[in-house]
Amino acid sequence: MKAILCVNHGLPDTLVLQETEKPVITEKQVLICVKACGVNFPDALIIQNKYQFKPPLPFSPGGEVSGIVLETGDKVSHIKTGDRVLALCGWGGFAEQVAVDANRVFPIPAEMDFITAASTLYNYGTSYHALKDRAIVKAGESLLVLGAAGGVGIAAVELGKLMGATVIAAASTDDKLSLCKEKGADHLINYTTEDLRTRIKEITGEKGVDVIYDPVGGKMAEQALRSIAWKGRYLVVGFASGEIPQLAFNLPLLKGCSVMGVFWGSFAEKEPAQSLQNLGELLQWLRKGKIKQSIHKIYSLKEGPQAIQDLINRKIKGKAIVKIGDWTEEPANVIPEKKENISQKEIITKPLVIRGLEDIKNHIGKSLGTTEWLTVTQQMIDDFSAATLDFQWVHTDIEKAKALLPDGKTIAHGYLSMSLASHFFYQLITLENIHSFFNYGINKARFITTIKEGSRIRMQGSILNAEDQPSGGVKIFLNCIMELEGSEKPAYVAEIISLLV
Ligand SMILES: NC(=O)c1ccc[n+]([C@@H]2O[C@H](COP(=O)([O-])OP(=O)(O)OC[C@H]3O[C@@H](n4cnc5c(N)ncnc54)[C@H](OP(=O)(O)O)[C@@H]3O)[C@@H](O)[C@H]2O)c1
Repeated sequence: MKAILCVNHGLPDTLVLQETEKPVITEKQVLICVKACGVNFPDALIIQNKYQFKPPLPFSPGGEVSGIVLETGDKVSHIKTGDRVLALCGWGGFAEQVAVDANRVFPIPAEMDFITAASTLYNYGTSYHALKDRAIVKAGESLLVLGAAGGVGIAAVELGKLMGATVIAAASTDDKLSLCKEKGADHLINYTTEDLRTRIKEITGEKGVDVIYDPVGGKMAEQALRSIAWKGRYLVVGFASGEIPQLAFNLPLLKGCSVMGVFWGSFAEKEPAQSLQNLGELLQWLRKGKIKQSIHKIYSLKEGPQAIQDLINRKIKGKAIVKIGDWTEEPANVIPEKKENISQKEIITKPLVIRGLEDIKNHIGKSLGTTEWLTVTQQMIDDFSAATLDFQWVHTDIEKAKALLPDGKTIAHGYLSMSLASHFFYQLITLENIHSFFNYGINKARFITTIKEGSRIRMQGSILNAEDQPSGGVKIFLNCIMELEGSEKPAYVAEIISLLV
C-alpha cells in the first residue's frame, strides 16, 4: 500500500511517499481502508519527535481517519467488515490502510460523509469538553477564543455560540477573523494589529472576560489572563505558538480565577460514559446542521506533507483534510454490501433496524415481533442468585424444591425474567449509528406467572413512544410481554424505558 512515511524525524519536507507493507491487526484491532484523514497540530509535532506519543520509525502521521472496515480482530464485536467508521488512530492515517484499536473506532451515521467524519470529532470533541465539562460555560457569559480560526479554535467559537455565550474571536489576520464572524462570533480582535488587552476592555468593560480558551500559549497568555473576570476560567488547551507560558501565581490569586487544563484524550479514556454522551450530543448538532466543520482545503495523499507545512505556516483556516485515493462519496443511506460477519440467525432475530436517533419516531406504535424461545436453566438461576445475593431456597435448593414444591422444580427470580428483557430486545432491534443505550427505568412491571426451572420463555415487544431529551438523546418506551411456554398468562409484562444516545 501507499503511505506518507516519516523515516527520520524532521519537518514535513523530510516525509516520503512510499510503497510499504499493509498493517497486520491484532485480535482487538480493526483494519480500515482510509478514505480521508484530518490534519491536526499533533501531526506537525509527532514528525519532529516533539509530541507526547513517540511511535517507532518509520511511521505515517495522521491521527483522525474515516474509511471502511476491511477486517476485524477476533475479539471485536461492535464493528464489522464493511462498516463506515471514523477512528482516532493517533498516527498512521496518511496511508491507504491503518490498523486501529477497536475502542477508538466508531460507526458513522449513514448520512455523514467521509470528509466530515475525518474532520470533526477531534476538534469539536476537545472544544466541547473544554467548554462544557471544564469551564462549565453558561449562557450570557463572555468567551474569548485565541487562535480562533484554527481547528479547535473555530470549533470553540461555534460551540460557544450554541451554548449561549458572547464570543470574542481573536486571530492573526482579518481573513481568519471573517471565518469567525461567519461562525457567529460577536466581537473580533486582530492580535497582529490590535492590542489584545485594550480591545478586551473595550468589549467587556471593567469586568473582563469570563472564560478564555487558549490553544496558542506563548506571550499572549499572560495578556489574556490579566484581562480575565473575577472567578473567570482560563482553559489551557495547547501551545501552537511553540512556547509554554510561565504563570505568575499572584495573577490567579488577584483575579480569584481558575486556570484549568484540558486534555481531551485522557478525558475520553478516564470518563468514557461522559465522553460518549458528549459525542452523542455533537452528532445530534451535526445532524441538525447546528455545527459544521469548515474545510480549508482537501489535499491528496501525495500533498500530505504540504498540508502539515501549511498548518505550521498558519495558512489553514478551519481544517485541512488529506483524501486518500480517487473516490466519490457513496450515496447516503446505502448500506455496504459486504456483510460477511452477519450470520443468518442474526438477520432472522433482528428484524427491525433503527438507523440513528431520528429514525426512532418512524417506528412508534409498531410491533417488533416475537423472539426465539429461551430455556431458563438452573445455572442461570444460580448465577442470578450469586449476582444479587438473593439465595432463597425456592430458587437454589433443588432437593428441597423436589420435596416441597408442587411440581418439584425451583423457581426463577422474578427479577431474572425482568433482566432478560434486554437480551430479548437485542433480537428484536438492531441499532445503527447510535452510540449506546442505557436502561432508564420501568413502568407498570408485573410478575404474573412464576417461571419454573427448565421452562421456556420468549418476548413480544412494541415501541410505544419516543421523547427527545434536552441533552440530545432519545428516551424510548417499549412494551414487553414475556410469554411462558404452555401458559395462557404471561410470565412478565412491563413498559421499559431506555435512553439512546
Ligand atoms: N488539550 C487537548 O486535548 C488538545 C486537543 C486538540 C488540540 N490541542 C492543541 O491545540 C493546539 C491547536 O491545535 P489545532 O489543531 O487547532 O491547530 P491549528 O489548526 O494549527 O490552529 C492553531 C492556531 O494557533 C495559532 N498560532 C499562533 N502561533 C502559531 C504558530 N507558531 N504556529 C502555528 N499556529 C500558531 C494560529 O492562529 P493565528 O494565526 O490566528 O494566530 C492557528 O490557527 C495545538 O497545540 C494542539 O496540540 C489540544
